[in-house]
Order: sequence, then structure tokens, then C-alpha cells
Amino acid sequence: MAATIIDGKKIADDIRQEVRRETDELKASSGILPGLAFILVGEDPASQAYVRMKGKACEEMGFYSVTEKLPADTTEEFLLRLIRRFNMDPRIHGILVQLPLPKHIREDQILSAVDYRKDVDGFHPVNVGRLVVGQDCLKPCTPAGIQELLVRSGHDPSGKHVVVVGRSNIVGKPVMNILLQKQKGANAVVTIAHTGAPDISIFTRQADILIAAIGKPGAITGAMIRTGAVVIDVGINRVDDPTAKNGYRLVGDVDFVSASTVAGAITPVPGGVGPMTIALLMKNTLRAAQGTIYL
Ligand code: GUN
Repeated sequence: MAATIIDGKKIADDIRQEVRRETDELKASSGILPGLAFILVGEDPASQAYVRMKGKACEEMGFYSVTEKLPADTTEEFLLRLIRRFNMDPRIHGILVQLPLPKHIREDQILSAVDYRKDVDGFHPVNVGRLVVGQDCLKPCTPAGIQELLVRSGHDPSGKHVVVVGRSNIVGKPVMNILLQKQKGANAVVTIAHTGAPDISIFTRQADILIAAIGKPGAITGAMIRTGAVVIDVGINRVDDPTAKNGYRLVGDVDFVSASTVAGAITPVPGGVGPMTIALLMKNTLRAAQGTIYL
């Protein structure tokens, strides 16, 4: 039987409406307008597209937003000064430095320079640590979006075996820490499989919920999935397609055709996890503006 499609676009739209409503309430009750600053270094087309989409979402929420586009040869010192300026700016509640950064800039120095109370990406070591020990914090948008997607689509991870493929700081490690919490909407048994394993299919076949965050188009095939499993595809890969009008199309890390004959439910690409990331960024910015996390 074909898998149910989990509609990330619809669930993300629901969250955006909730954020929009709460933003209006915050404005009415305290006069605070949530503000988000984007910093984009270089010309990577995918990064440019993401920042554009996030900026449009801010407009829709009624947020204040600014985008600083910097050339690829920007120095680390210049970037640090810009971050410090946004740290001090009372109109700005969230700062997002789009990754990846050019090789000559040290990512860890940059991410640590953002005021952790404005770290809407949840990448600052203070937020990483607070997440691990279960303290309230700003959580990375894609992992938090995956949790919302599971819960709101009726696939509560509690008591389930979640297998994550990929150990990145942006998705793999934080999604493990979120789903591991002894809390509602989490409480899962979590395994991380990664490139260090000679055969990841030994692990993926045991998953009740399989989260693919590898960055390789079609790497997870139907043969690697347990019958009836919930499959969350985090990959957004551009592959050449001469028949497409822009010359490429987007595919996930999961081979959708073979996977959807085995899985019980599956997220599409596009229209699965991608829209959730943006919705959770809006939610994080609102929460930062509300100012109640780090009291
Ligand atoms: N690049 C890929 N994913 C992300 C993300 O969630 N945040 C930022 N800032 N950059 C990214």
C-alpha cells in the first residue's frame, strides 16, 4: 500500500497563522514588533533563495526585518562587528547568519558571537548546552520543525525508535537531543547512524521513525526502510534537470518512489520539512521578542 503523504506545507501554514495571531497580540499588548536580521555572505544560489523565502515569511508575519548581503571576501572581523551591532540593536530580536560561510571565516567564532538570546537558529553553544540538559532555549529550526511535523501529523515519537541518519550540528545532533527529552512530543529511543558505519541499512531497517539528514540525493531506498515506518526526508538537493525551466529540480535524501511503497507515511520534497524550518524560524523570532525564555 502506498504511504500517506505528510503535508509539511499545510502544517507550516497552520503554525504561521498562529505566529501571526500572537504577533498581533504582542504588538497590541506591549507595542513590541518582532525584528529579524539576516546576514548572507557570498553568492551561493541556494542560500540566496533561502534568505529570500525567510524574508518573505517575515513580511507575512508583520515582522521588522533587515538583510545584510556581504561579498564572499568579507573578513571575519567585519562580520563580527556587524553581529555586535545587531546584538546591541533594540529593534532586532533575532539574528540569522546563513550557513555555509566562506572557508576563510571560522563558523564557530561567528555563531558564538551572536547574543544567545537573539540566536533564533539555536546554534550558540549556550543554546546547544541548554537543549542537551533540558532547559528552555531557542532550538534549531529544522529539528524543532521535525518534532512539530511528527506530533501534528499524528506520529507522536514517544516510545518509538527514531533512527536519524546524519550527525550534523544543524540537524542530526539537535534532532536527537529534542526527541530524547523526557517530555511530551518527545521521549523517543534515538539512534544516530552516520558515515562511520559500514552499512547504515542495519540501523535504518529498525526505525519506527526514520529521519534522513545526509545531503545525498536518493541515498535512502525502499529496501532500507521497515514496512510501515514514518519517513522524514530532510534533504534538499539540487539535481540537474534539462527539462525544468531553471535547469534543476529539488530532490530529498530519500528515493521517494521506492520508499513510498514501503513506508507508512512520508514527507515529500519539496513541501515536507522545508516549509517547517521557515515556520519555526518565525516562531523562534516571536519567542525571542516576547523575551520570556531566559528570565
Ligand atoms: N543552512 C542550512 N540550514 C540552515 C539553517 O537552519 N540556518 C542557517 N543559518 N543556515 C542554514
